[in-house]
Amino acid sequence: MDRRLFSQLLTLGAGAWAWPPKPAPPAAGAQAQPDAAAGDFSHPPANVGDFAARARAVLPPATFDYISTGSTDEVTLRDNVAAFQRLRLLPPLLAGVDQVSLATTLLGTPVRLPILLAPVAGQSLFHRDGVLASARAAAAAGTILGVSSSAGHSVEEVAEATDGPKWFQLYVPRDRTIARRIVERVERAGYRALILTVDLGERKDADKRNRFALPRERLLKQLTDMGFPVHAGMTLAVLNAVNEQAWDPALSWEVFDWLRSITRLPLLVKGVLRPEDADRAVRLGLDGIVVSNHGGRRLDGVPASIDQLEEVVAAVKGRATVLLDSGVRRGTDVLKALALGAQGVLIGRPYAWALAAGGEEGVTQLLTLLREELEVALQACGCASVQQVPRGLVLRSE
Ligand code: FNR
Repeated sequence: MDRRLFSQLLTLGAGAWAWPPKPAPPAAGAQAQPDAAAGDFSHPPANVGDFAARARAVLPPATFDYISTGSTDEVTLRDNVAAFQRLRLLPPLLAGVDQVSLATTLLGTPVRLPILLAPVAGQSLFHRDGVLASARAAAAAGTILGVSSSAGHSVEEVAEATDGPKWFQLYVPRDRTIARRIVERVERAGYRALILTVDLGERKDADKRNRFALPRERLLKQLTDMGFPVHAGMTLAVLNAVNEQAWDPALSWEVFDWLRSITRLPLLVKGVLRPEDADRAVRLGLDGIVVSNHGGRRLDGVPASIDQLEEVVAAVKGRATVLLDSGVRRGTDVLKALALGAQGVLIGRPYAWALAAGGEEGVTQLLTLLREELEVALQACGCASVQQVPRGLVLRSE
């Protein structure tokens, strides 16, 4: 076996995960493009897997693994993509539409694309411009950026980078005074909603093997940005200890009452898989539900988000906005999620790879690609807009 293939197999955990797919060798006569430099989009990537391949080429292996891998056996990571692929589309013929509209409004925020950027931590490790580049690309595409509590820039820095719509994703600090202050800053900086991420159980073998960790300076910045009492004289060990103690791992439903009492921003809960939880969240007055398993990065073995969507939508009964993430890799995936009742989707890894591959331009190219794929899919299914995607388009093949 040639050495390169052997080391590729090792890096991939001998086939332990399914995305990105191994690039097929170019067909005879086809123009090979694998060496196109990162950031050089004169050969535009044809799909999300191409962005992943470019990211792999430029990132340190441990950083690429941090983005790409999932928890423990990666059953959920693989299933997120496979579950979309199991669904079939059954388009009506001759239902011609000339123009399709991707515009919609999510929790009062008008968007030109129902594909949002999910909150993603550590973006400064992927590209020097980090989340600021993602923010500009999201604004240019007319979509919402979810800004992680650990994005790598402060809420104010992201707000200065762009006027585009932003939602802040909150991990709740144990110290509710710190939590309250960050919510106040988010409001002042003009963010339009709060996403509370509540799923737990991260255990990523690859990160353990790679001893993946934030460098001291970055951890210091992240903790400072969130308002924790840290200072430049602290060692990495001390900062790690602060970080471990910083967040509340024992949240209960009470947290939503508390949040409601301190902010009027629309509230979303991210990490919902059970219809009962969706119903409870809505009865507590939440405005949005994100059906998500964190892209297979939390407890492994939970179902694919897309497989839970219909039941969650049925439980919500139109009382809140339902979004979905985990495993969206194609415009047809977005169409399937819309048909099963989501009002929009979020993507995580695809834009992390695109950011690594080419900064703002990379994320812009990715959003353009997914926009085109979605437009083609809508047109092929006779849907003039994202609000007019009927349930009957999707068949379950099992
Ligand atoms: C994430 N995700 C995430 N979610 C969140 O609520 N807060 C966070 O800080 C992060 N950080 C993060 C880092 C990286 C590198 C990735 C890839 C993901 C999860 C993210 O918001 C989203 O739920 C998943 O990425 C969606 O799945 P796909 O699109 O990656 O399959």
